Parts: sequence; structure tokens; C-alpha cells
Amino acid sequence: MSKHVGASTSDLAAAAAEFARSGVAVVKELVPRPVAVYLSSVLSVMHGAGRLTSDRSQVPGAFVTYGDPAFDTLLPLLAGPMSQITGVELWPTYSFARTYLHGQELTKHSDRPSCQYSVTVHLGASDDEAWPIEITDLGGADRSIELAPGDGLAYLGCELTHWRGPCPSQWYSQAFLHYVDRSDRNLVFDGRPSLGRPRPN
Ligand SMILES: [Fe+2]
Repeated sequence: MSKHVGASTSDLAAAAAEFARSGVAVVKELVPRPVAVYLSSVLSVMHGAGRLTSDRSQVPGAFVTYGDPAFDTLLPLLAGPMSQITGVELWPTYSFARTYLHGQELTKHSDRPSCQYSVTVHLGASDDEAWPIEITDLGGADRSIELAPGDGLAYLGCELTHWRGPCPSQWYSQAFLHYVDRSDRNLVFDGRPSLGRPRPN
């Protein structure tokens, strides 16, 4: 699978060292940039077709999708690189994608148990305004991390507090891919019978 991923072996090794130290690691072009551009366009088409839902929890009013095949497909494709970065054999749980709108914020939080090992990938935005993700790493340091389209930020979703200030762009799209340790099999696919399905009730 690694041939489908933009990151080089040396980039993944460097990310693994950083992840082991801090629980956070950036990988440039974890997803090849043209694929990120494509997925940003997929979200735009889904939005136009009324196939995104309005986020009622973390970012009220943002447009989101859970478990869509276009995004769940990234889970197995990136499981190998994510296992290299984290040093843990991982199972996919679920994908999520969100288009934030101007002024929307992501309040400080950590993630639910299906998000032990997560990577957030920037897909695209209406402009080049910087909009960093803020995260407190394992050493207690507050980090401010900017991503270009295709870049991934791997992080310990359940352990590390993360947030964003107000979105400066008209729109800004991001994919989230979540994994758990292979020892935690009841969380595989987030309780679904397969990838590509809606969230179970
Ligand atoms: Fe989160």
C-alpha cells in the first residue's frame, strides 16, 4: 500500500521518531497533493448535492460526513504508514470529513475511544490563509501546526487536547482518519460490519 502514499520512507522514519517523543508528528504529503485536491472537490460536490450534514456537536454549522466510502477508503491505504509512524499495529475505526466555514472554531477537546491513533489531513481551502491546529503534546508543550493540502498530522487523539481558533477562510476542508490498537478489536470499524457505512446507532 505504501506506493500509494506520498510520504517517503525517510519521512515516515522521521515522523516515527517525533511521534515516539511527543505523540504528535507531521508528515508532508502523506496523501499526494492531487488526491487531496480531488477529495476536497468530492466534498464540494457532496455539499452541492445536499449529502453533507450540518455538524451538531463539535463545530456547529460546519458540513460533515462520517464513513463515506471516499474517505473510509483512505483508512486501509494509510494503515501501513500510520503503523510505521506510531509503532503500533493498527485497525481502522472510521473516517470523518469536515468543511469549516468562516469564523467557526474547534473548541478544546480530546477524542472518543475509537480515536486512539488519529491523523488529520488537510484537503483544501478557499485561499492560502494560515489556520494552524493547536495541540498540547505529551511533554505539555502547546504546538501550533500548519498543514498544506495532503499534509497529515498524526496524534494521540484520546490523550492530547487539540483545538483551532476562528477559521479565517470562507471554507476549509479536512479529513480525519482514526485507528485503534489491534488488541482492541471491539472498536474495529467503529462497531460497523465494514467500512463505508453510516455510524451505528
Ligand atoms: Fe478531535
